[in-house]
This record gives sequence, C-alpha cells and structure tokens, in this order.
Amino acid sequence: MSTRQQCRTVLLTGASGGLGHAIARLLAEQGDRLLLQGRNADRLEQLRCSLANPGRHRVLAADLLESAGRRELVQMCRGESGLDVLINNAGISRFALLGDLDDRELADILHTNLLVPMALTRDLLPLLQQSPAAAVINIGSTFGHIGHPGFTAYSASKAGLFGFTEALRRECADGGVRVHYLAPRAVDTELNTPAVRALNRALRNKADTPAVVALQCSNLLHKASGQRRFIGWPERFFIKINALFPGLVDSALSKKLPVIRRYAKQGELPGEAL
Ligand SMILES: NC(=O)c1ccc[n+]([C@@H]2O[C@H](COP(=O)([O-])OP(=O)(O)OC[C@H]3O[C@@H](n4cnc5c(N)ncnc54)[C@H](OP(=O)(O)O)[C@@H]3O)[C@@H](O)[C@H]2O)c1
Repeated sequence: MSTRQQCRTVLLTGASGGLGHAIARLLAEQGDRLLLQGRNADRLEQLRCSLANPGRHRVLAADLLESAGRRELVQMCRGESGLDVLINNAGISRFALLGDLDDRELADILHTNLLVPMALTRDLLPLLQQSPAAAVINIGSTFGHIGHPGFTAYSASKAGLFGFTEALRRECADGGVRVHYLAPRAVDTELNTPAVRALNRALRNKADTPAVVALQCSNLLHKASGQRRFIGWPERFFIKINALFPGLVDSALSKKLPVIRRYAKQGELPGEAL
C-alpha cells in the first residue's frame, strides 16, 4: 500500500494547543480522521467542529500525567477500527534558571515531554503494527540539540525524546512502523510566555507560524522510512556546529547569558511586566 493513504486514523496529542490546531486542520483537510487529545475539553470540541468533516473526528480530554488519562486514551484507540498514526505533540516548557525550578516542575517537564510519549508509544505500538502504513511522529525541539540556558529541563526532555525516537526507529527497522522526529525552532504559540517572546526578540531568534511546522509534519507522513527533521535556518547549521564544535556554541551563548538571565528573572515576576 502507498504510504499516502486516503483516510488515516491519526491520534494527535496536544491538539488543543497552537501547533496541535494547525496539524489537525491540515490533516483534516487532507482527509484524515483525527482523534484529538488535550486537557481542555471546550477547546478540543471547538476545534473538532471547525475541522473539515467534523463528524468524522473524536475528542478525548485527558491529563496524560495521570495514568488513568493515558489508559482512557489507549482504550479509545483500541475501540477504533484501527490506528495508523500517533503524533506525540503534547508538551510543556518553563523558562527559568535551574535554581528556580522546584522538584514538581522538573518532574512534570520530563514526564510530559519524555515519559508520556514513551509510554503511549509502547502501549499503542501493537495497534499501529496492524496498520499497513503506520507512523509515529515525535515533536522535539531545536533545544533538544542545542542545550539552552534558561531551558535546562526542557532541553533535557527533548534531548531524551530524540534518543528515544532514534532507538525506536532502529528497533522498528524490520517492521512496518515508520518512526519520525520533527524538531521545530521557536513557534508562535501560547507555549511561549511573554518573557520567552521578549527573549527571542532580544536575541533576534526567528519564530515560525504553526502552519509551517504542520506542513513539515504532514510531509513526514508521506515518507517511506523514518526521518529526522530540524526546522529553520540557521538553526539546522548551529545544530551541526554544536555537535562538532560545542565549544563554539558555549562561547556564543555565554555572551548572551546576561540577557537570558535578565529575562528569566523577569519572567518570574507576577504578570511578567516586560
Ligand atoms: N511553541 C514553540 O516555540 C515550540 C518550539 C519547539 C517545539 N515545540 C513543541 O511543540 C509541541 C506543541 O507545543 P505548542 O507550541 O503547540 O504548545 P501549546 O500551545 O502550549 O500546546 C501544548 C499542548 O499540550 C497539551 N498538554 C500539555 N500538558 C498536557 C498533559 N499533562 N496532558 C495532556 N495534554 C497536555 C496542552 O493541552 P491543554 O492546552 O488542553 O492543557 C496543549 O494541547 C510541544 O511538544 C512543544 O515542546 C514548541
């Protein structure tokens, strides 16, 4: 069967968020059937109603940090006639210096961005393996490849997600499931607080629209083998430099540290008056 299937059933986590909305819109327009997951039931339902063929899609509001929420989601997928694609998109971030992150925040970031995708993929793999055109897409981040001051926990979680994706892609090499990794640079969504947006402006970091990332995500679904994609120039180049000559990136980022520290501390203030 062609990897371009007419009507795939796609489980999209984090559908209620900025990137989730854009991915859902694009895939629904392409004829896919979506299982939309997030925590905010109203936003999910509004999204479903706004998609092409709304009656075809389903929503499930569940907190993926709760094992009951994950179980419910897996049960919902098992109750479908099949599952072709899992997009692990749900994620959280926190812009703060390490000393300002408490145990709970550290655990939530690693849990949401790394352990949840691993556990969901494990639980849904048997179902995906029954599909002739199965794929998993894990949404990573440039910060998983360029550890960034102010984002220690987030960078660690996305670096872990990359390691997981690479190992799983190789583990699935003799099976039918294509395992992809997509790493956006900054994207204009609510994930980024005013402090992060101000930092990006100050450092002249470029941001993409969610639609740009959604298109890359959709393109991956047409690939015959698992891929790794990094979005944005010069970010792709810096990722290579960081892998080969990390000292150069250490030095470039150390010059930016005072600015990063200032915005990280301002982000801690009530209302983030920036
Ligand atoms: N925005 C960026 O600059 C950027 C850059 C690189 C990578 N990314 C990655 O892109 C992905 C999507 O992010 P986004 O920018 O669209 O962020 P967003 O607008 O904040 O959306 C995050 C989504 O994740 C869901 N979510 C978070 N914690 C959850 C939990 N415990 N259980 C269930 N759902 C949960 C949220 O659900 P509710 O809203 O319903 O609570 C929401 O749907 C993330 O993996 C992020 O790391 C984003």
